[in-house]
Amino acid sequence: MSENGITMVDENGMRLDGRTAEEHRPIKIEAGVLKNADGSAYLEIGKNKVLAAVYGPRECHPRHMQNPTRAIIQCKYNMQAYSVGDRKRPGTDRRSTEISKIISEALENVVLTELYPRASIDVYIEILQANAGTRCAGLTAASVALADAGIPMRDIIPAIASGKADGHVLLDLNKEEDNFGEADVPMAIVPGTDEIVLLQMDGHMTREEFDRAIEMGVAACHEVSDIQKDALRRRYSAEGCE
Ligand code: CDP
Repeated sequence: MSENGITMVDENGMRLDGRTAEEHRPIKIEAGVLKNADGSAYLEIGKNKVLAAVYGPRECHPRHMQNPTRAIIQCKYNMQAYSVGDRKRPGTDRRSTEISKIISEALENVVLTELYPRASIDVYIEILQANAGTRCAGLTAASVALADAGIPMRDIIPAIASGKADGHVLLDLNKEEDNFGEADVPMAIVPGTDEIVLLQMDGHMTREEFDRAIEMGVAACHEVSDIQKDALRRRYSAEGCE
């Protein structure tokens, strides 16, 4: 039973939604869903629904933001008013500004920005339906959208959260586990090297629990990476048949 008296993991180690501790929610990714963007992807993980669109590289505006040596990545994470139970006040807030920043910084680790001085690569992430884990879902979708746009990258970033609820270290917390749990640890890696390019922690864990959360998250990121590559393969084999 968790600190607040709610049982979220039964005596057999099963979670309320029937998953084991190390299981992520079902993931579905489709690349190239928007005709008018340079690249796009739609992603579902459990009840989360996310759309990512990429424009660029194109001339950076405003000009004072241009970098003469490389492109900048400008990500805009936006949660739709209807994406959560209580209507969310539309527009940018501190949370969306933070998430946009950490996703841009994660992507700058893999995009070959030095190929496009003074340019901007614009990444739009729309959260259509939220159920915890949207920053990871958004980054995973954005990486596929960048690949779909043909933007040169040294790898495609997968992301997933692990955390702690009801005293157990769990992968990919859902909304209830996130709300009533003890900690949430979103992370993203470069699958080719296992470099961590996004890592946050909200809540408390022991050092051992944290190490376990990282181990689980990295293993799951590799599974997400395979799903991303499958989505891109499907997209390009379908295009070949058109
Ligand atoms: O979505 P993520 O786990 O990356 O970020 P969070 O800030 O930990 O938010 C967890 C969840 O809280 C979101 O996925 C939404 O389901 C919910 N949320 C909400 O209902 N209203 C908000 N204004 C923000 C988040």
